[in-house]
Amino acid sequence: MEKKLKKISKRVNFYLNNYLRKYDSKELIPPMKYGLFPGGKKIRSKIIFDVGMIFKVEKTTLLILAASVEAIHAYSLIHDDLPCMDDDKLRRGKPSTHIKFGESTAILAGNSLLTTAFEILSDNNFNVDDKIKSKLINFLSRCSGLIGIAGGQYLDLSYEKKKVSFEKILNMELKKTGKLFEFCCVAPLIVKKNKKNYNSFAKIGKDIGLLFQIVDDLIDFKGKTKIVGKKTKKDIKQGKATIISLLGYENAVKYAENLKQNIYKKLRSHKNNADDLRETIEFIMERKK
Ligand code: IPE
Ligand code: IPE
Ligand code: MG
Ligand code: MG
Ligand code: MG
Repeated sequence: MEKKLKKISKRVNFYLNNYLRKYDSKELIPPMKYGLFPGGKKIRSKIIFDVGMIFKVEKTTLLILAASVEAIHAYSLIHDDLPCMDDDKLRRGKPSTHIKFGESTAILAGNSLLTTAFEILSDNNFNVDDKIKSKLINFLSRCSGLIGIAGGQYLDLSYEKKKVSFEKILNMELKKTGKLFEFCCVAPLIVKKNKKNYNSFAKIGKDIGLLFQIVDDLIDFKGKTKIVGKKTKKDIKQGKATIISLLGYENAVKYAENLKQNIYKKLRSHKNNADDLRETIEFIMERKK
């Protein structure tokens, strides 16, 4: 799995670096690249490839989808670390973008990474038909904006130091994290015009996203800053509303395990074709960073 992630990471980074080459002399490129490279685990990219393999989508198409998702993910982390958000000074084992370049530059580099994602998908070199292209762009916009990452991040911040219900926490985590995973799981189906499996993979995507965020919260609770590459034990300090803060560590683990079983049930009919996706889900469960 580590090997596969490394390979995907290399390809996605190569694509992004190449894509940005025409802008190399521009001032915002250094902070943008700082937030993008070498980058994190590339779990979202791996999921795009895993689902793409199930439905036999061309690899170049998957690579472009992955590059656009990683650009949005990198933007979301740069902004997540800002003093007005989570105020984190360490990200992926190095100083956060705003620590290195200053706040206003980090905000603008984040904005530019967000728009880069849509530039990549709308580029003439992305060789899918226009109707599919516009569907992808439309869905990725929705996953990033007020009913996706941005809306979820708003809720995350507004729930700090408050007692919040289970349903509200789930809804917040689904938006801030789940929606981008949903995109990763349905984008290959949009490319294939596969309506039959759409709803099932939309649900799988949301559940993987939720699972991913719960494990992220567990890692914050138990992990070591040195291994994780970002400051841990911050959620309690900041009074973040998480499933752990509401139900406790053990119950959060149980909830995650339950989510995994539900995802596996949905994958059953895809037999061995879904083995790569199962491997990614196991990795998400077991990961230490
Ligand atoms: C961290 O995401 C932010 C969350 C949504 C929990 P990742 O854990 O995927 O971050 P990187 O890309 O590997 O650094
Ligand atoms: C961030 O969640 C989710 C995003 C959409 C960026 P966290 O705030 O828990 O992510 P980390 O722990 O800082 O990576
Ligand atoms: Mg946050
Ligand atoms: Mg954070
Ligand atoms: Mg976290």
